Amino acid sequence: MGGQPERAVARRELVEVKDLSKSFERRRGIWRLGAPVSALRNVNFSVERGTTLALVGESGSGKSTLARCLALVERPTVGEFWFDGRNLLALRRSEAFPYRRRIQLVFQDTAGALSPYLTAIGTIEEPLLIAGRGDARARRVRALEAMDEVGLPAGCAERRPLELSGGQRQRVALARALVLQPEFLILDEALTGLDLSIQAQILNLLNRLQGDHALTYLYITHDLSLVSHIADDVAVLWRGEIVERLRPRELFSNPRHPHTQGLLASRLLLDPAS
Ligand SMILES: Nc1ncnc2c1ncn2[C@@H]1O[C@H](COP(=O)(O)OP(=O)(O)OP(=O)(O)O)[C@@H](O)[C@H]1O
Ligand SMILES: [Mg+2]
Repeated sequence: MGGQPERAVARRELVEVKDLSKSFERRRGIWRLGAPVSALRNVNFSVERGTTLALVGESGSGKSTLARCLALVERPTVGEFWFDGRNLLALRRSEAFPYRRRIQLVFQDTAGALSPYLTAIGTIEEPLLIAGRGDARARRVRALEAMDEVGLPAGCAERRPLELSGGQRQRVALARALVLQPEFLILDEALTGLDLSIQAQILNLLNRLQGDHALTYLYITHDLSLVSHIADDVAVLWRGEIVERLRPRELFSNPRHPHTQGLLASRLLLDPAS
């Protein structure tokens, strides 16, 4: 394959973030309150196709802000976000639209993120409906397929979030993210709060899905214990800056930056600002 042109064109990096910064103005009405909050500062990293980068950092370090910027729900103040060879931040809204299918975000708080009125199958079908995919029957078939992929029994299809367990709700959120067959999945504390056996099951599932579909993951967490089970590489975020990038096993054996050492010592840190 090595010399063939299509191989030469295919890039190893699916995601490249260059000098990305995000600050939030603090306002009350028309009044500006002090200096803006600088949530991300000159963030640079890349993720190879089919691999997982774990992004770790204490509470308030900017992880979710980065997740929202990369999921195109928040606009960075400056910087570049290259996805499959295009800088999405330089595109017009209509040009960037197709990328919203290719990049999906899964949150921790599924109880809050899932509509209490929609059944599991309704939740999973919704992105297909919004994207105008197929007729009702084709959408149902695809949604049931996505349920099967994440190991949700068909018996859960008609249940609403409050009639599902935490692990089942997380699978619904995952199936919803997968139903449009994305390439890049951003998992923002997606396993936090689930009990250990459910975390292990979902981790195995994520690893299998990655193998089956060559998915690329950004796995965001402040809990370092699962990182080595999922990540190929780890980036440490501290006060909006990436201070270190290392292999998962080095996280425990050879953390260089004092903040990484501190994160390891405490495992779960609270926002220093709070
Ligand atoms: N919409 C917003 N307006 C103003 N400030 C914000 C906004 N969103 C985030 N911030 C601030 O940006 C900083 C980073 O927040 P962010 O939610 O990205 O942290 P995090 O690393 O995800 O934390 P956690 O682990 O607690 O989820 C915090 O100081 C936060 O208060
Ligand atoms: Mg967060």
